[in-house]
Amino acid sequence: MAILPIYEVPHPILKQVAKPVAVVDDRVRTLLDDMAATMYAAPGIGLAAPQVGVSERILVTAVPVREAISEEQEEDEEAGSKAYLTELINPEILEQEGAITFDEGCLSVPDLVVPIDRWERIVVRALDRHGEPFQFEARGFYAVVFQHEIDHIDGKTLVDRLSALKRAMYLKKQKKRLRDGPGSDDDAAGATA
Ligand code: NI
Repeated sequence: MAILPIYEVPHPILKQVAKPVAVVDDRVRTLLDDMAATMYAAPGIGLAAPQVGVSERILVTAVPVREAISEEQEEDEEAGSKAYLTELINPEILEQEGAITFDEGCLSVPDLVVPIDRWERIVVRALDRHGEPFQFEARGFYAVVFQHEIDHIDGKTLVDRLSALKRAMYLKKQKKRLRDGPGSDDDAAGATA
């Protein structure tokens, strides 16, 4: 398994609507393995294929789906660890309801945390690594993680959630960061995906 470079804004691939996977084959399975290795190394709790330069509808999360439900529970101190890997190919949100606001970070948008309004409950259908369809319900923080990653394959990142002024300020800082490397004001914390 290889650890892949993570693309950061304003790379144009992060703004593309990713294309569906036509055939789930060994190429896709190798990509899933590499994406999981990259997510754990970062570390992050989710990673979408465009973040590693592949514009396809593939994502991984380090939050589990158990008995067709993904919901944060008492014993979830292992969330974010290798114990909890979920892989989704061509995910679709079938149902959505409720509201939750969560402070989100992103591996492709360094040093930024933005409160985002999300659905509190979603039902997702996807293909697994063998091309078999499956369906599950996600709630709360875990529903947020899947929505964040699905945004990535739709070409959306946290910077799109900022006002025009804040976005311009952030992108200016990010260009400097890309030029000079991570600086001393590396103060963002929390879960990144
Ligand atoms: Ni992200």
